Amino acid sequence: MVWIMVGYLSGSWLAALSVCRLSGVGDPRQHGSFNPGFSNVLRLYGPRLAAVTLLLDAVKGMPAVLGAKLMGYPVWLQGLVGLAVLLGHSFPLWHRLRGGKAVASAFGVLLVLVPGVALLSAVIWSLLAWRLRMAAMASLISALAAPLLCAWLAPEYVIVVGGFSLLVLARHGLNIRRLRRGDEPPIRGS
Ligand code: G3P
Repeated sequence: MVWIMVGYLSGSWLAALSVCRLSGVGDPRQHGSFNPGFSNVLRLYGPRLAAVTLLLDAVKGMPAVLGAKLMGYPVWLQGLVGLAVLLGHSFPLWHRLRGGKAVASAFGVLLVLVPGVALLSAVIWSLLAWRLRMAAMASLISALAAPLLCAWLAPEYVIVVGGFSLLVLARHGLNIRRLRRGDEPPIRGS
């Protein structure tokens, strides 16, 4: 229970907001895709701030999940702690439950639980984002790929990783509608 609370609270800290505030740039929730995440920071303020946002959002959930893993919790409980991190990022209490899409935080959680799946998903994400110039499309396909990779590399985590993917997919509802309309904003460089 403690690790679930720690997971939710650490996930609730939105790195994009702190990074942008400390750098004196605008609020990413007011521009671009309006998402407080690394893709929108990249789109609005460039790769340096985006990289810091990505790193911090990925790292923030790791201590909670690592704690659960080192305590020898069963896989389903480690998964609940990971889910708490993602829910914290998506629905942070102190931002009126308006958070991000949990892609970077899912990457960090996966890195602790199933590192091979995390790294392969990151490779898929990067290739797709580079090729398509659309972060959301890269995230959607990576989220679909993660449980499949898990079935291959760490079958005991398939349900847990499938749960993470469902949340990430659900958080991209607006992107899916924009992709269907053809007006999804590209990431930088296109
Ligand atoms: O990292 C989140 C990504 O999948 C979508 O972000 O800003 O393009 O809506 P954005």
